[in-house]
Amino acid sequence: MDFENFMPIRPRRLRHNPAVRRLVTEYRVTPERLIMPLFVCEGENVKVEIPSMPEVYQMSLDVLEEEVRELESLGVGGVILFGIPAKKDECGSDAMSADGIIARAVRTVKKAAPELLCITDVCFCEYTSHGHCGILKTFPSGVTDVDNDATLEILRKQTLIQAEAGVDMVAPSGMMDGMIGAMREALDGGGFTRIPIMSYAVKYASAFYGPFRDAADSAPQFGDRRSYQMDFAAAAESALREVELDVAEGADIIMVKPALAYLDIVRMVHENYPELPLAAYNVSGEYSMVKAAAQNGWIDEERIVDESLIAMTRAGAGIILTYWAKKVARRMK
Ligand code: PBG
Repeated sequence: MDFENFMPIRPRRLRHNPAVRRLVTEYRVTPERLIMPLFVCEGENVKVEIPSMPEVYQMSLDVLEEEVRELESLGVGGVILFGIPAKKDECGSDAMSADGIIARAVRTVKKAAPELLCITDVCFCEYTSHGHCGILKTFPSGVTDVDNDATLEILRKQTLIQAEAGVDMVAPSGMMDGMIGAMREALDGGGFTRIPIMSYAVKYASAFYGPFRDAADSAPQFGDRRSYQMDFAAAAESALREVELDVAEGADIIMVKPALAYLDIVRMVHENYPELPLAAYNVSGEYSMVKAAAQNGWIDEERIVDESLIAMTRAGAGIILTYWAKKVARRMK
């Protein structure tokens, strides 16, 4: 047999040129599926770059206004807002005030860019002096930890404040048991039956959040978050239990976080809940690692980003929260 002329199956036939490669492309990342996280602070004309996250900024409301106008015109899927209050206290009061930073940020976004989907992170670590995601209690054993059920009460208040400010969607990230049910009840009770909940349902206690805590100034002042966020070495299937509970309580969209080290989990959730919209959070540490390596000239940032976002999509995430949302959208325009 003349091997050169007879080989019925040659996978390279569909790779020989860009046109044929484009034809058989299965996955695409489009701006409307990307959500841009934004850090909002007090002041005027403030735009402070986060040292561990090049090109990511804390911004005041006037800068936010410009930013969201641009994101809206780029066709980005939405923004998720994190508030950095001027004053933090034990129970995160700023998050429960209609004049707090997050409520004002929501009003600013909805006014400046009414067509842009405005999501809020619902959690307390950015607003509490101790940096934990809820109210602390010292239990009879002497251990101080986040009090789950007391935190549900303040989560209801925070949710309503954001709903009243005009938010389009809320995204609780504190990993409290029962948080979705409590928020759904609060929203419905307040007449906000149309506001969906995107749950950080599967959120691991991860070192990949390190740079975020610089950005949001939210590092826990003692201990860590392992009593509420998931253990990465626990059975993978425990993720399904978290999803099941949140779905039963009324979650509309499910999120897995972080993304890259957890693509097996993204895939598993997607296969078990194919009917549910699924999001992956490409977190701060994933961003910073690429930025640092790219700044050293060790890798090509754009290509790494494209490859990573496709990997998340291929794993089953239809929605991706990423600090690259704006850059990718710009590039696609
Ligand atoms: C708030 C919250 C965190 C992130 C999103 N929401 C930090 C944390 O849980 O400590 C992390 C996002 C990122 O690292 O990009 N609870």
